[in-house]
Amino acid sequence: MRSYTYFLLIFFAYGVFCVTCSPFPTNEVRAITSFKEAIYEDPNLVLSNWNAVDTDPCGWTGITCNKERQHVIKINISDSSLKGFLAPEIGQIIYLQELTLRKNNLIGTIPKEFGM
Ligand SMILES: *[C@@H]1O[C@H](CO)[C@@H](O)[C@H](O)[C@H]1NC(C)=O
Repeated sequence: MRSYTYFLLIFFAYGVFCVTCSPFPTNEVRAITSFKEAIYEDPNLVLSNWNAVDTDPCGWTGITCNKERQHVIKINISDSSLKGFLAPEIGQIIYLQELTLRKNNLIGTIPKEFGM
Protein backbone atom coordinates (compact mmCIF):
# COMPACT_ATOMS: atom_id res chain seq x y z
CA MET A 1 0.00 0.00 0.00
CA ARG A 2 2.79 2.33 0.96
CA SER A 3 4.73 1.76 -2.23
CA TYR A 4 1.54 2.33 -4.19
CA THR A 5 1.23 5.77 -2.57
CA TYR A 6 4.82 6.53 -3.51
CA PHE A 7 4.11 5.44 -7.03
CA LEU A 8 1.14 7.82 -7.23
CA LEU A 9 3.20 10.66 -5.79
CA ILE A 10 5.95 10.16 -8.33
CA PHE A 11 3.43 9.80 -11.10
CA PHE A 12 1.67 13.06 -10.24
CA ALA A 13 4.87 14.97 -9.55
CA TYR A 14 6.07 13.96 -12.99
CA GLY A 15 2.74 14.95 -14.52
CA VAL A 16 2.80 18.41 -12.95
CA PHE A 17 6.44 18.88 -13.87
CA CYS A 18 5.80 17.97 -17.49
CA VAL A 19 3.04 20.50 -18.00
CA THR A 20 5.83 23.05 -18.27
CA CYS A 21 8.26 20.92 -20.26
CA SER A 22 6.96 21.41 -23.79
CA PRO A 23 9.31 19.58 -26.15
CA PHE A 24 10.80 22.17 -28.45
CA PRO A 25 11.48 20.95 -31.99
CA THR A 26 15.12 19.92 -32.04
CA ASN A 27 15.52 20.75 -35.72
CA GLU A 28 14.81 24.41 -34.94
CA VAL A 29 17.36 24.40 -32.12
CA ARG A 30 19.83 22.71 -34.46
CA ALA A 31 19.19 25.30 -37.18
CA ILE A 32 19.81 28.19 -34.79
CA THR A 33 22.93 26.46 -33.52
CA SER A 34 24.16 26.11 -37.12
CA PHE A 35 23.56 29.80 -37.61
CA LYS A 36 25.72 30.55 -34.59
CA GLU A 37 28.45 28.17 -35.77
CA ALA A 38 28.70 30.04 -39.08
CA ILE A 39 29.46 33.28 -37.21
CA TYR A 40 33.16 33.65 -36.55
CA GLU A 41 33.15 37.02 -34.83
CA ASP A 42 30.68 38.17 -32.18
CA PRO A 43 32.39 41.14 -30.52
CA ASN A 44 29.39 42.06 -28.36
CA LEU A 45 28.76 38.43 -27.32
CA VAL A 46 25.19 38.71 -28.54
CA LEU A 47 25.02 34.97 -29.23
CA SER A 48 26.66 33.94 -25.96
CA ASN A 49 23.44 32.54 -24.49
CA TRP A 50 22.61 30.62 -27.67
CA ASN A 51 23.53 27.41 -25.95
CA ALA A 52 22.52 24.12 -27.57
CA VAL A 53 22.42 22.34 -24.21
CA ASP A 54 19.44 24.52 -23.36
CA THR A 55 16.77 23.01 -25.58
CA ASP A 56 14.36 25.92 -25.18
CA PRO A 57 15.71 28.81 -27.26
CA CYS A 58 12.80 31.16 -26.46
CA GLY A 59 14.88 33.12 -23.97
CA TRP A 60 17.94 33.47 -26.19
CA THR A 61 18.96 36.97 -27.24
CA GLY A 62 17.05 38.14 -30.30
CA ILE A 63 14.84 35.04 -30.51
CA THR A 64 11.06 35.33 -30.31
CA CYS A 65 8.81 32.28 -30.02
CA ASN A 66 5.09 31.97 -30.59
CA LYS A 67 2.98 32.30 -27.47
CA GLU A 68 2.78 28.54 -26.94
CA ARG A 69 6.60 28.59 -26.91
CA GLN A 70 6.75 25.81 -29.48
CA HIS A 71 8.30 27.50 -32.48
CA VAL A 72 10.74 30.25 -33.29
CA ILE A 73 8.89 32.96 -35.21
CA LYS A 74 11.40 35.84 -35.17
CA ILE A 75 15.13 36.28 -35.10
CA ASN A 76 16.38 39.82 -34.66
CA ILE A 77 20.09 40.24 -34.25
CA SER A 78 20.34 43.66 -35.87
CA ASP A 79 23.17 45.99 -34.91
CA SER A 80 25.30 43.21 -33.40
CA SER A 81 28.48 43.61 -35.49
CA LEU A 82 28.48 39.90 -36.24
CA LYS A 83 30.87 38.57 -38.86
CA GLY A 84 30.32 35.32 -40.60
CA PHE A 85 28.26 33.40 -43.10
CA LEU A 86 24.54 32.92 -43.39
CA ALA A 87 23.83 29.29 -42.55
CA PRO A 88 21.31 27.75 -44.97
CA GLU A 89 19.88 25.73 -42.04
CA ILE A 90 17.86 28.81 -41.04
CA GLY A 91 15.53 27.74 -43.86
CA GLN A 92 14.55 24.76 -41.67
CA ILE A 93 12.81 27.05 -39.19
CA ILE A 94 9.59 26.82 -41.09
CA TYR A 95 7.58 29.00 -38.70
CA LEU A 96 10.03 31.87 -39.01
CA GLN A 97 8.25 35.06 -40.08
CA GLU A 98 10.94 37.69 -39.53
CA LEU A 99 14.69 37.55 -39.80
CA THR A 100 16.35 40.88 -39.03
CA LEU A 101 20.07 40.97 -39.74
CA ARG A 102 20.71 44.70 -40.25
CA LYS A 103 24.09 46.17 -39.39
CA ASN A 104 26.08 42.97 -39.34
CA ASN A 105 28.81 41.75 -41.59
CA LEU A 106 27.43 38.55 -43.03
CA ILE A 107 29.04 37.38 -46.23
CA GLY A 108 28.12 35.02 -48.98
CA THR A 109 24.97 34.56 -50.96
CA ILE A 110 21.53 34.35 -49.45
CA PRO A 111 20.94 30.59 -49.22
CA LYS A 112 18.07 29.43 -51.41
CA GLU A 113 16.63 27.57 -48.38
CA PHE A 114 15.58 30.99 -47.01
CA GLY A 115 12.76 31.04 -49.49
CA MET A 116 11.17 27.89 -48.09
C1 LIG B 1 15.43 44.46 -33.59
O1 LIG B 1 16.11 44.75 -32.38
C2 LIG B 1 16.60 46.07 -32.32
C3 LIG B 1 17.49 46.19 -31.08
O2 LIG B 1 16.93 45.55 -29.99
C4 LIG B 1 15.42 47.03 -32.33
O3 LIG B 1 15.87 48.36 -32.25
C5 LIG B 1 14.65 46.82 -33.63
O4 LIG B 1 13.49 47.61 -33.63
C6 LIG B 1 14.23 45.37 -33.79
N1 LIG B 1 13.70 45.16 -35.12
C7 LIG B 1 12.63 44.42 -35.36
C8 LIG B 1 12.20 44.33 -36.78
O5 LIG B 1 12.03 43.82 -34.49
